Amino acid sequence: MSHAIEPLYVRYQVPDLVRMESFLRDFGMQTAQQSATQLFMRGSGSTPYVYEAVAGTEARFLGAGFRVAERADLERVAALEGSGPIEAIDDAPGGGHRVRMRMADGFEIDAVHGAAVATPLETRDAIALNTARTKPRTNQFVRIAQAIAPVTKLGHFVLHVRDHRAAVAWLHQRFGLIASDYMGPPGDPDQAAGTFLRVDRGQQMVDHHCLLVLGTETPGVHHCSFEVEDVDAVMAGHDYLLQRGYTLDCGVGRHLLGSQIFDYWRDPFGFRIEHYTDGDMVNHLHQPAIFSGTADETTQWGARPPKDFFE
Ligand SMILES: [Fe+2]
Repeated sequence: MSHAIEPLYVRYQVPDLVRMESFLRDFGMQTAQQSATQLFMRGSGSTPYVYEAVAGTEARFLGAGFRVAERADLERVAALEGSGPIEAIDDAPGGGHRVRMRMADGFEIDAVHGAAVATPLETRDAIALNTARTKPRTNQFVRIAQAIAPVTKLGHFVLHVRDHRAAVAWLHQRFGLIASDYMGPPGDPDQAAGTFLRVDRGQQMVDHHCLLVLGTETPGVHHCSFEVEDVDAVMAGHDYLLQRGYTLDCGVGRHLLGSQIFDYWRDPFGFRIEHYTDGDMVNHLHQPAIFSGTADETTQWGARPPKDFFE
């Protein structure tokens, strides 16, 4: 089995790269590389890019990429059905090699190895929060500008697929992704309609999920999600995006599964895109559970997603 270490990027096709770049900069990314047909945007963290937009008439989700642990992982996945060959990455920041694979619903998922580790960009430190019992911030004051909230990395994305079980098995075989939690009727994970998947790094703590796979009749992407520094970044970024006239989808609130403080926006082409902070970290000691509650119960506080959020 091959092994993913981290999600790297998502890829979309859009009819207007200039418009997309302008939105993504306001959303907290920086331009890493661009041509007439391709746009690569980076976060402030160590991945060469977190978002690729390709020029094309129709706006659609293309796929995503994961960094895999070793070169041999590329050989393993290249031998599987639906995989392209191992190819040198000469058209994207960071270089390295990749194998592009096609899921049953048409999404292209890349295994990437040997891509450079980018030098992180300088951003402000997290602001220490004084809680009722612990006051780490003393003789220092919170001063936050209503400004762009830099995103650090791609945290996760969410796919709607026709065959949920087959998609989870596909991702397990190619990337070693394992279940953190399920959504579905109580009792039997095999009956689940959704699975929160994480990279498997054993004892090492990782994000609760890098991918949520949901079974539906209409395949597509639900959203992609990028981490920002802290709660103040979510809120200042929220105000900034509102003031810039963008469309708020749902936020701010706190999720149940993964516990992130979230803020969802619509990009200029209607795709959902999320800022988050303060997500759960888990390791091999975490036991997956089945969530069987209502859609409303997936939000612990804050903005309740509208009905069409779950369609
Ligand atoms: Fe999310």
